[in-house]
Amino acid sequence: MTARASIIASLPIPPDLRDRIEALFDYVAPDRHLRTDEVIALADLHQPDGLLVSLGMPIRAEHIARLPGSVKVIATTSVGHDHIDIAAANARGIVVCNTPDVLTDATADTHMLLLLGAARRAKAHIRNMDGAWKTRNGFFQGLGVDVTGKTMGIVGMGRIGRAVADRARGFRMPILYHNRTRLSADLEGDARYFEALEEMLPHCQVLSLNLPGGQGVLMTRERFALLPKGAIFVNSARGSLVDEDALLEALTSGRVGAAGLDVFQREPGYDTRLNDAENTFLLPHIGSATVETRTAMLELAVGGIEAVLSGNTPHNVVRV
Ligand code: GLV
Repeated sequence: MTARASIIASLPIPPDLRDRIEALFDYVAPDRHLRTDEVIALADLHQPDGLLVSLGMPIRAEHIARLPGSVKVIATTSVGHDHIDIAAANARGIVVCNTPDVLTDATADTHMLLLLGAARRAKAHIRNMDGAWKTRNGFFQGLGVDVTGKTMGIVGMGRIGRAVADRARGFRMPILYHNRTRLSADLEGDARYFEALEEMLPHCQVLSLNLPGGQGVLMTRERFALLPKGAIFVNSARGSLVDEDALLEALTSGRVGAAGLDVFQREPGYDTRLNDAENTFLLPHIGSATVETRTAMLELAVGGIEAVLSGNTPHNVVRV
């Protein structure tokens, strides 16, 4: 790496981690999350070698076109990279890095939290506790449904999908999956592959989305209608994969019995009708939000910048 390469971060970073970055780079550190335009203005001023960004900062082709020629690498502190136009970046010779692997377990754990929270009506019970739990539920009041033994269909059997499957097996859940390509036998294990999503949906007592975003709406009205009545829908992947109006209709009709969602079409400022529905359990996109995981993500992203600026190709380079 050239002596004292420089980077601009679009996100605030805790002091102990900042020290580690400052040991490597000249570093422009904000005290709040910056908007894309603000980062571009800073880049114009400081001519950095790299940008360290986060999910909340869209970097489209028009933004890439406005970056100074000094920028050789953009690292996002997320595994998802649908907020970055990778092709446009690569066309300008900018390498993009992300944070695969290190968030797999935390995200799969959150996925199970969503599943359990939705199945067991946790929202209503939390509200009850918030209201100081004044009256005891009747024996047949506030009931959820079992998770144990239900059949789970997973769309997207990458690292996170497989980690969800591992956890679901602990709940004795038979696993079905739909994926662009069938897994090798050792990765597939006892899971049953469906080449056509439409053929899998009628068997999914639990439907689990674990695929990357950026490929349009997957769960349409027609596809929700194929689920068995009362299915539980869990999405910790991307809100852009779901027609939220169709989901609301399915939650009202009972086609979807409950939904656990960590991701939304609009973030923040999501469609609060989803929270008005009694049969949802919602979290504000916290899939990877643990101290250990976020630290590992930051280190991986920074490591990617360092490697690229040193002329290497780290394993976390995003390829189109
Ligand atoms: C979270 O959604 C991520 O892509 O890291």
